[in-house]
Amino acid sequence: MVIFSIFRMNPEKDKGPYYKDYELNIPEGATVLDCLNLIKWTQDGTLSYRMSCRSAICGSCAVKINGHPKLACKTQVVDEIMNGEIRIEPIGNAKVLKDLVVDLDLFWQKIEDVKPWLIVDKSLKPPTPPLQKGGKGGFEEQRQSPEEFHRIDAASTCIMCASCCSDCNSWEANEKFLGPAALAKAQRFVDDSRDKGKLERIIDLSKENGMWDCTHCGECWERCPTETKPLDRIITLRTTALEMGITGNNGARHVNGFVESINKSGILNENILPIKSIGIFNIPGLLSLIPVGIRMFLKGKNPPIIHKHIDEMDDVKRIFKRFKK
Ligand code: SF4
Ligand code: SF4
Ligand code: FES
Repeated sequence: MVIFSIFRMNPEKDKGPYYKDYELNIPEGATVLDCLNLIKWTQDGTLSYRMSCRSAICGSCAVKINGHPKLACKTQVVDEIMNGEIRIEPIGNAKVLKDLVVDLDLFWQKIEDVKPWLIVDKSLKPPTPPLQKGGKGGFEEQRQSPEEFHRIDAASTCIMCASCCSDCNSWEANEKFLGPAALAKAQRFVDDSRDKGKLERIIDLSKENGMWDCTHCGECWERCPTETKPLDRIITLRTTALEMGITGNNGARHVNGFVESINKSGILNENILPIKSIGIFNIPGLLSLIPVGIRMFLKGKNPPIIHKHIDEMDDVKRIFKRFKK
């Protein structure tokens, strides 16, 4: 017997959310989704949740299980029981429509914002060879080598479950942030050898609310049930941006300033880094730093004015040399 403590809310009837407990005899080998189905079919037909494939492919059954998002159809109940209980809630960073069903409009809007389609080379002359009967339509076939496909392989496994976005700290702080799933989708097209919009995509993704607004918390990596692992895809995007010289933004300047400081002294120069990140010619931006600086000074948290280097600089230089090589 296990108690399922399930988040319930019907906005048409309830004043607010509450948790309802259901006692269930767990069949051997049952997944969390099997149990939700048993509860709905045998105890309470009003319980709402999403499901479709029951095979970890469609991404529709993501719910929070004991505090973190997981696919209900991929999660064995026995692995989740804590003191005879399991807590089930809707995924985070989304408005609850009813019980475990959330509004994913914003999630899908962000996916659309990164143009999840191939931008084709218009110079290719259709139709060679014809792709449709009668020889009309279609572009010249564009093949990929296994190596080229490998660059987009991981991102291609995304099943759009939104688990990554549920626990994303940057999304929670700023709803306009593109979020891990959309950024992973963007990397899938940025690195597609057949896509002709790479530069335009990287410029767009480097803007405010884009790839540089991720705080590297790693939650998306932890929660993703596939090989997509969005944080890895975001790091790939950032590397591409730096390699392409798209560095006129706070995020890229921050990274370059960080590396420069470590290379010079072995430690971070916290007096200079904010100035480098904001941009030395960005007067309004620099002025906006003054109140923060004063608050840090008053709390005794300002870094030493004279920046020293560490004794083991030879080791640092060796690491940089090796990395470059
Ligand atoms: S690593 Fe970045 S994108 Fe992923 S959850 Fe954290 S802030 Fe969000
Ligand atoms: S990146 Fe992973 S967690 Fe995010 S939507 Fe895709 S499959 Fe789900
Ligand atoms: S029901 Fe499709 S992923 Fe779980």
